[in-house]
Amino acid sequence: MKTETVLRIVDLFAAICFILALKGLSNPKGARRGNIIGAFGMAVAIGFNFATPGLHRFAIILIAMAIGTAIGVPIARYVKMTAVPQMVAGFNGVGGGAAALVAMSDFLQSHPQQLAVYQIIEVLFGVIVGSVSFSGSIIAFAKLQELMTGRPITYPGQKVINGTVFAAIIAGGAWVCVAPHTGVIVGVAVLSLVFGAAFVLPIGGADVPVLISLLNSFTGLAVAASGFVLHSVLLVVAGTLVGASGTLLTRMMSQAMGRSLANILFSAFGSVVVATEESGVEGRTVKSASAEDVAILLAYSRKVAIVPGYGLAVAQAQHVVRELADLLEARGVEVFYAIHPVAGRMPGHMNVLLAEANVPYDQLLEMEQANAAFPTTDVALVIGANDVVNPAAKSSPGSPIYGMPILNVDEAKNVIFLKRSMRPGFAGIENELMYQDATTLLFGDAKDSLTQLVAAVKNT
Ligand code: TAP
Repeated sequence: MKTETVLRIVDLFAAICFILALKGLSNPKGARRGNIIGAFGMAVAIGFNFATPGLHRFAIILIAMAIGTAIGVPIARYVKMTAVPQMVAGFNGVGGGAAALVAMSDFLQSHPQQLAVYQIIEVLFGVIVGSVSFSGSIIAFAKLQELMTGRPITYPGQKVINGTVFAAIIAGGAWVCVAPHTGVIVGVAVLSLVFGAAFVLPIGGADVPVLISLLNSFTGLAVAASGFVLHSVLLVVAGTLVGASGTLLTRMMSQAMGRSLANILFSAFGSVVVATEESGVEGRTVKSASAEDVAILLAYSRKVAIVPGYGLAVAQAQHVVRELADLLEARGVEVFYAIHPVAGRMPGHMNVLLAEANVPYDQLLEMEQANAAFPTTDVALVIGANDVVNPAAKSSPGSPIYGMPILNVDEAKNVIFLKRSMRPGFAGIENELMYQDATTLLFGDAKDSLTQLVAAVKNT
């Protein structure tokens, strides 16, 4: 069989691996297997593509791969779970930048005057979308890493300026199609970098992870475009898969937040909470209790819901929460975990966290299932969650989270909040539920409070 044919078959095999990987990644049970299948497909594709006829400069490619591995492996191993969104932003930016460079270098190495218009459009698409994704991801990274303010950055005439830059990119692209000059395409690339940064600046706070998912889909499309430029079927397939899955994820995240994508991108919503211990409503009191009191309530309940949120991830309390659940189950208490789709700071954050502690998947209830179970629940133990249980989402039309579907923990007989202070959640708004009669607060770091609860339940 000809080398070319073997390579096409390997490409097809790798593409199938990527599709199976995505299928596995779509649920917690199959995620690990999906990851391994995807990595295997990628290794096979890279390995066999070294056999591509006409491929040269092996040494440079190997050195680049060694540098990438030396940077990527420690980041992947040591990055904290709470820092994964910025890690994804960084990796995504690099992917977008690489796709833009591939398209640009193909243009520079060819005889641009001899390129057909469709070939120039392929190059332009890769350059524009890849550059927007690169600079946009760098700004998103800086916001999440707190290298710059995470708040929306706005200034007068912002939308007009962004619109003008966008129009200039389109005009420059049209110019390149008519007269393919190197200087003009470089200008288009620079304007695209400016546009990527300007587009991301007014997006802030809780909206940044949704933005990263959108930029991820942009990178996928830029990679698919460079696949057309390089005549690589595999790049087209892989890029399209990333583009499609990123688009779907963006849509699912905006739906889970109860907002339209346009509202997320253009409304400059999203605060970063800089709150103090005193930020509870002045003069109002909340009911707090000791770990011993809460342990008695839990130990004598029939049904307990555990509602994890961002604070559980910060406290790294996933193992001790599992220990508490096991203890309660051993006493005959029915325990389930109520998972809100945007609890935490990244998609699937709570699933990943609880999987780390080997929490059985059948105990994880999605929002609709959990909401059906709350009316018959004795205690909802809300651990480091706030916005995802805030009834303002249903009752306060002016609230920034109005319209976001929430976990109806207020329908349980008792609600216990485990948190450190009266500080609000990410959206920066008061939670009325804290002041209701059926609500009790157990103040402290989630891991410390849970450790005390475990000890107290053992003694009950
Ligand atoms: P949040 O509303 O952010 O509330 C987290 C709570 O955890 C805070 O009230 C905080 O109170 C508490 N906390 C922090 N560290 C703690 C610790 N060590 N021990 C105990 N408690 C601790 O979290 P949530 O309910 O999970 O909501 C997620 C928010 O992020 C939503 O607004 C959502 O829209 C947004 N968001 C999520 C995503 C994804 S995909 N997950 C994407 C974009 C935006 P104290 O400071 O008083 O302890």
